[in-house]
Amino acid sequence: MEINAAPKFYVRDVPVFGDVILSPMDGYSDLPFRSLTRELGSAMAYTEFMNVESLSLNGENDAVTWRKLKYDPRERPVVFQIYGHNEERLVQVATRLQEFQPDVIDINMGCYVRKIAERGAGSGMLRDPAKIARLFARLTRELRVPVTAKIRLGWDERTRNYLEVARALAEHGASLIAVHARTKAQGYTGVADWNAIAEIKQAVKIPVLGNGDVKTVADIERMKTQTGCDGVMIGRGAIGNPWIFARQDRDAVAPLAKLALMRRHLALNLDFYGTRLGLVLFRKHAYRYVQGAYGSAALRHALMLCEEVSAFERLLDEYAAHLAQPTDAEFQPAPPRAAG
Ligand SMILES: Cc1cc2nc3c(=O)[nH]c(=O)nc-3n(C[C@H](O)[C@H](O)[C@H](O)COP(=O)(O)O)c2cc1C
Repeated sequence: MEINAAPKFYVRDVPVFGDVILSPMDGYSDLPFRSLTRELGSAMAYTEFMNVESLSLNGENDAVTWRKLKYDPRERPVVFQIYGHNEERLVQVATRLQEFQPDVIDINMGCYVRKIAERGAGSGMLRDPAKIARLFARLTRELRVPVTAKIRLGWDERTRNYLEVARALAEHGASLIAVHARTKAQGYTGVADWNAIAEIKQAVKIPVLGNGDVKTVADIERMKTQTGCDGVMIGRGAIGNPWIFARQDRDAVAPLAKLALMRRHLALNLDFYGTRLGLVLFRKHAYRYVQGAYGSAALRHALMLCEEVSAFERLLDEYAAHLAQPTDAEFQPAPPRAAG
């Protein structure tokens, strides 16, 4: 990374020194994965979304919530993402969350999960631009930190009100808009409409992050050119592929370097969640790290069944040794060792 480089953009007064950013992803953008991707070049660190109804106002949070509020100072700028339908509660919780010193607070307006959206939270907010305007007027008046939003294009094909929503946000103090270029009704179907991101970028003066279907380094540049966005947010395309933040495609990473990074990610997970939970939560990442690697089908299968860290690491050792041999043979894990 360049030293003394100029910021690519500002979130109000918070400088951002890069233009690729890991998407907030429930179950994925936790402290270990954020740290790793931040190190590789993700320019901001969005937490997983947090429900304001389950965040306590008097600090009596459960262990799961505490973990979501934790971050490493090296991740800064850190963005706490929250969601909820109740304006009063959103403002109260956001105000209290400032005690944890995030750099930015983001309101999720994109979640399409039915029980969240139907209640008027997540993408459900897009149905009520007047409420968005009211909420942001209050949040930006009452909070010290900048407030941002992550939106979709609208509720469904007939109500693609993204320009109205983006203007309401910008006019009522939002400091950045991240746009997943699909409607709520689309879920993850179809293709993201990057032209809509370009329209939003033209319509507002605050920074815009483009999001949706970026999977390769070429996609990053293509989205930037097509939309003029200030930064590119990457979700699914970053799972098992954190090198994308260093603008390096997966296929260009040497297999042993991939394994080394995977081991580091595992170590971070074990450290953060403890051995048992850390391993269980790492499996879904492991699957994606080795997906598509030459001769790795048996490894993937064996990794998913591992109950012990030692067995997991032994498998990776065996796979590394297999990679070091000049052979085209499929990898075959050694039979489990006898106990005792
Ligand atoms: C497993 C998963 C969890 C997600 N959780 C969140 C979330 O907590 N907050 C949010 O704003 N978006 C969430 N998203 C949406 C992503 O941030 C992103 O907008 C979407 O995946 C489209 O980008 P992509 O094509 O790069 O994946 C989630 C997506 C996935 C796949």
